[in-house]
Amino acid sequence: MDVKEALLDRMVEARGDFTSGESLSEELGISRNAVSKAASQLREAGFTIESRRKMGYRLTEHNLRCPTKCIRQYLKSDGFSFVTADSVVSTNTALRELASDGACEWTVFLAGEQTGGRGRWGKTFFSPRGTGVYMSILLYPSLTASDARLITTCAAVAVCRAIEKVCDKKPLIKWVNDIYIGNKKVCGILTEGAFNAETGSLSHAILGIGINLFPPREGFGTLTGIAGTVLKDEKNAWDVKGQLVAAICDNFRPLYEKLPDTGFFEEYRERSYLSGKKIEVIRNGEGRSAVALEIGGDLRLHVRYGDGSEEWLDSGEVSVKPEL
Ligand code: BTN
Repeated sequence: MDVKEALLDRMVEARGDFTSGESLSEELGISRNAVSKAASQLREAGFTIESRRKMGYRLTEHNLRCPTKCIRQYLKSDGFSFVTADSVVSTNTALRELASDGACEWTVFLAGEQTGGRGRWGKTFFSPRGTGVYMSILLYPSLTASDARLITTCAAVAVCRAIEKVCDKKPLIKWVNDIYIGNKKVCGILTEGAFNAETGSLSHAILGIGINLFPPREGFGTLTGIAGTVLKDEKNAWDVKGQLVAAICDNFRPLYEKLPDTGFFEEYRERSYLSGKKIEVIRNGEGRSAVALEIGGDLRLHVRYGDGSEEWLDSGEVSVKPEL
């Protein structure tokens, strides 16, 4: 085993406590200097490591990068392979490239930052270094084009359950695919797919999930006021990231494998953020004021407009009007 990997594994196992460099060097039959060199290389790769004489090495509570080993420590399901990168344009794009090279289903791409994170409706997804979870999961679904939307909706339920596991707040789903805590968005989901023109079914799908884990040091810029975070600060965030990614994978997989079963709809509806809220229904860039009445049994959104007319929306962009 590579010295870097061995040291990282030890530090993850120690969960923030010190692990002895001396015992690692004895075990691997290498010099203490080689362990110290491995620690420097890990620092260069973005891990924040403290070293102390006679105590050894540890990942500090301000370390932002989550080692794969940490995810695996919490993961209960089999069959996931994790690919990590420090910085990419978009994890969805990076994973699409792996898919075209034949990557397996359940390959998960994680990045420390995205320089061109994508959201729905051509928007960007602000993805600053270290403070969020930016992940994409590769799927080869046997679903019809019209059932493909179920991937996003069951992912929203899985992400809520995972967030609930790591913080004591109840996340809600803003139809169709945003997750809110309180009145602020903490997560967005973007599923992108490729269709097989002959069969009309999906040849692959990439489920992209972006979570604001804790506040970026530079703030949210123009998103301040609408963007929220799962945690208040970065203390031990790397460990929480591991728990969160593992819990997303563990919760999503059984829901996805049952599709097109819609047993999770009830939970989706119970977690509705919009019901009773004043909203704008946006079409062709134009907003129309309405009230969100309910999410129907088929997950369509029932709205009433200012003139009293009502509509069931299949999909679309809806924004919440700020309370005055
Ligand atoms: C939205 O809020 O409209 C959806 C945001 C989806 C963001 C995630 S982050 C990981 C993956 N890579 C991307 O470029 N987008 C998704």
